[in-house]
Amino acid sequence: MKINEIETPALILDKQTFEYNLERMDQLLEGTTMKLRPHYKSNKCSEIAKLQIKRGAAGITCAKLGEAEDLANAGIENILIANQVVQPSKVKRVAELAKDHYIIICVDDKDNIKALSDAAVEAGSQIHVLVEYEVGMKRCGVDTYDEFIELAELIDKSEGLIFEGIQAYGGHMAHEHSLETRIAETNRIENEVRELKALLEAKGLKVKEVGGGSTGTIEQKAKDTVYTDIQAGSYIFMDNAYGQLHLGFKNALFVLTTVISTKKDRVVTDTGVKSLGMDQGDPVFLGVPEGSPISMSEEHGAVYCEHNFKINDKLRYIPGHCCTTVNIFDELYVVDGDEVVDCWKITARGKAY
Ligand SMILES: Cc1ncc(COP(=O)(O)O)c(C=O)c1O
Repeated sequence: MKINEIETPALILDKQTFEYNLERMDQLLEGTTMKLRPHYKSNKCSEIAKLQIKRGAAGITCAKLGEAEDLANAGIENILIANQVVQPSKVKRVAELAKDHYIIICVDDKDNIKALSDAAVEAGSQIHVLVEYEVGMKRCGVDTYDEFIELAELIDKSEGLIFEGIQAYGGHMAHEHSLETRIAETNRIENEVRELKALLEAKGLKVKEVGGGSTGTIEQKAKDTVYTDIQAGSYIFMDNAYGQLHLGFKNALFVLTTVISTKKDRVVTDTGVKSLGMDQGDPVFLGVPEGSPISMSEEHGAVYCEHNFKINDKLRYIPGHCCTTVNIFDELYVVDGDEVVDCWKITARGKAY
């Protein structure tokens, strides 16, 4: 099948660029103390997770329990839910999943630790637990060393739970445009987390894993960083938001669209905001003069420029945000030049529960 025969809007992955991005990440990690634990929220595609494991990833990170179950169904053994799971029925699902998988979960609350322990005892499983430490994003995570140590000691004493280490994701730096700020803040976080690890070890608590890191900050990590597991997700695809940081990864993910109307001053396509994640800004239309104004409505994308487009011509968009774009589609067409060489299911599409 040729790319132009795909019905649009469609999600397409440029195979060669995707492979280039995988290689680049391997090169960045080579000779460092870091392992890759890539984030599933970016691709939600079990074929990609399996491929990452095959290339040596330590396990897969995900954000939601539904994603973890999807990964388990695909045969992934080692799964980190880098998030808090608190609803009682979901806590039970975590404990069930942990019966035959290495499940790691994040916590920042005593009652949640008790609930996870009770559920693990009932299920007869063991859940590995990272305490989340807040490093500047102001999302989940405890704010002080003392709170952290208290929770770590509680986990250590809790039946059915194993203290695994520290989750410290500095998400506020992932898209920071100033390289100077990104370097300074990454170093500050590094020093804080290193101190926390030393305090825990002084109390006899073994810190097996220190997790965090993103596509945007991987280059700023020292070769001998305290982080053991890097949770980057977008690096395989990239998008317009990350593209502005010039990180050395290339755009491999596109939305293919068809021209449905042309007028002297504009081209209108069949792809609007229902087929593009716009939460981190506009997409880029390829094949039109750079900087041409665009207008996105639900089902239409219009670009205003001089042009020679005809109805049924195809255009590509680089999504503003790859992760929220992927979550809109059922499948991902893998293309090599003009040829469609594969079609992968987005198996965890919509699994936000
Ligand atoms: C826990 C966690 N780790 C890592 C990432 C980094 O992902 P990316 O490389 O796509 O920026 C995210 C992004 O949301 C995250 O929430």
